[in-house]
Amino acid sequence: MSMLNFNFQNPTRIIFGEGQIAQLPNYIPKDKKVLMCYGHGSIKKNGVYEQVMNALKGYEITEFSGIEPNPDYDTLMKAVAILKENGPENYFILAVGGGSISDGCKLIALGAMYKGSDPYKDLLINAASCCTEAVPLGVIMTLPATGSESNHGCVISCRRTHSKFGILNPASFPQFAILDPNTSMSLPYKQTANGVVDAFVHVCEQYLIDCRHADVQDRYAESLLKVLIENGSKVRETPNDYDVRANIMWAANQALNHWIAQGVRSDWATHYIGHELTAFLGMDHGQTLACIQRRVFEFKFEAKKAKLAQMAERVFEIKEGSVEEKARACIQRIDDFYSKVMGVPTRISEYPQYSQDKAWIEEVHKKFSEGNVHLGEDGDIDADVACEIIRNSY
Ligand code: NZQ
Ligand code: ZN
Repeated sequence: MSMLNFNFQNPTRIIFGEGQIAQLPNYIPKDKKVLMCYGHGSIKKNGVYEQVMNALKGYEITEFSGIEPNPDYDTLMKAVAILKENGPENYFILAVGGGSISDGCKLIALGAMYKGSDPYKDLLINAASCCTEAVPLGVIMTLPATGSESNHGCVISCRRTHSKFGILNPASFPQFAILDPNTSMSLPYKQTANGVVDAFVHVCEQYLIDCRHADVQDRYAESLLKVLIENGSKVRETPNDYDVRANIMWAANQALNHWIAQGVRSDWATHYIGHELTAFLGMDHGQTLACIQRRVFEFKFEAKKAKLAQMAERVFEIKEGSVEEKARACIQRIDDFYSKVMGVPTRISEYPQYSQDKAWIEEVHKKFSEGNVHLGEDGDIDADVACEIIRNSY
């Protein structure tokens, strides 16, 4: 398949580097009130909160804290209510934290401008068409992983319905993203590792597809994969190395600013199935991907083997063997990178903290069957296959 036509604009300004939180007043209009959103307090321990408060002296700030990892719809709607009550047109939203905070703020930004009567259905299910306007948003990203800081996607959980929704809405591109690699030095190692795996899988979902003539996208993707392997390998030993943190942060951003997705099909089956592991078992996003991805490759081996062999040659320098042998070696090397180098297990059974009772898989089957779900670049991962992939991931 040749490169497809595309039409792409990414409007998010990136402000990258040490000390750049101080730039905030240059990008938030002085006549706006700031709704500053964050999670459970990591920003108060690592000095980011203080930097934001210093930078925003003179602004009227409302704080909204307690957004969960895997942000919950019901929590976010409380922030929507604050904005609606005080006039959303008066506000600028500032997200400070990881992907969950950035994603949650995108929903808040859309929700505050939503005028209909069924927000659950329209914001979460009819996402792309629910709103053409959002409250302006800026992001200070402290966890390199999702790329949420400069894309128009958000992933919202609803615990009471065991659901996790992926939403794309062009109105939700942040106006700016501040990326200071120093902010990521306070991450617990587990979150750093999850983030590297997440970014790596993002590249794979856009690269390991059947497209043979997208040379720019391929070489760009391969560079990102190599950068993540090289710097991911160092970060446990040297967590305070600025260059390592900077390269991971920039690679994670580029992995999902939708640049490498232009002109090629994408897959995203690993992500969609992984979301169910978070919804039903409470697993971290990166952990789910490490478990699911290999089983997707095994199911899609025929379709993906040429690209896997290309990755083996160009990323892992595997020059010997047939296409099949190289492709299988590539799958093993990816698994080794997650489990041995980054320390993120690649089987659900290796996580004793999560329930090992598999009854929940039937609920996924029901949900995917009722929704007529067909995942993957060829749409051939239906409810039966998805559940088989989950079982194979134990
Ligand atoms: O709650 P706080 O105190 O902020 O602590 C967080 C949280 O406990 C902590 N943390 C963040 N930065 C830190 C820090 N701790 C110390 N130092 C720092 N600098 O890390 C924990 C996890 O944070 P979270 O934001 O949940 O992690 P992540 O960035 O991995 O985001 C995961 C969410 O993003 C979605 C996932 O599904 C999940 O809901 N995704 C969003 C995407 C997108 N918008 O494009 C794409 C991704 O594929 C992904 O699905
Ligand atoms: Zn992801």
